Amino acid sequence: MKFFLDTANIELIKEWIPTGLVDGVTTNPSLIAKEGGNIKDILLEICKIVDGDVSIEVVEKSPEKVYEQAKQISNLAKNVIVKIPFAKEYLPVISKLSKEGIKLNITLIFSLTQALLVSKLGVAYVSPFIGRWDDIDIDGMDLVKNLVTMKKNYNFKTEILAASIRNVIHLQKCILYGADVATIPPKLLDKLFNHPLTLQGIEKFDNDWKKLAKTDLFN
Ligand code: E4P
Repeated sequence: MKFFLDTANIELIKEWIPTGLVDGVTTNPSLIAKEGGNIKDILLEICKIVDGDVSIEVVEKSPEKVYEQAKQISNLAKNVIVKIPFAKEYLPVISKLSKEGIKLNITLIFSLTQALLVSKLGVAYVSPFIGRWDDIDIDGMDLVKNLVTMKKNYNFKTEILAASIRNVIHLQKCILYGADVATIPPKLLDKLFNHPLTLQGIEKFDNDWKKLAKTDLFN
């Protein structure tokens, strides 16, 4: 399972890279809006420091402009994945870009059939949004489960990139259901390290070792 960082914050990305866990990064207009500075510089820097796919979303609206902007975005760096929101009017653009070999991440996926349509077009990733289903009191995890079944049934190459992950339970279910990728906010990634029994265990080992009053393990 690949882990992407769901952030446009360069400091946080730099903090996590040495852990070896960062297989890529996803950004979106809201995440970029949280950062100060020159947007292009930020995105170029992210592409430079991350050894993996970096999703950058189009913000244009008309299909023609979306196509042009997708090309511009894809030219920013070799590891760029162009993120395009799911919409009927963008399907010809998605199909064209896919045929041109541009790697796409189709975002704001909320149904199995939306995912099927763009998987048929050979996009690199589909991003089912889990948390936003939960926000309206519907279990978003079913979508991920169904997408994994769809991928197996039809042998699609399109990777299932679970997005809008808000808590550890979401991530645990993504693991069990077999999502190819989970994009995780850094704050949530931090939580994966905190287990009271691990902390207690370390404390007990330390205390028992101190009772021996030795400083070196072998002498
Ligand atoms: C990532 O690709 C998505 O844009 C992101 O996970 C959305 O998360 P949110 O629903 O918490 O904004």
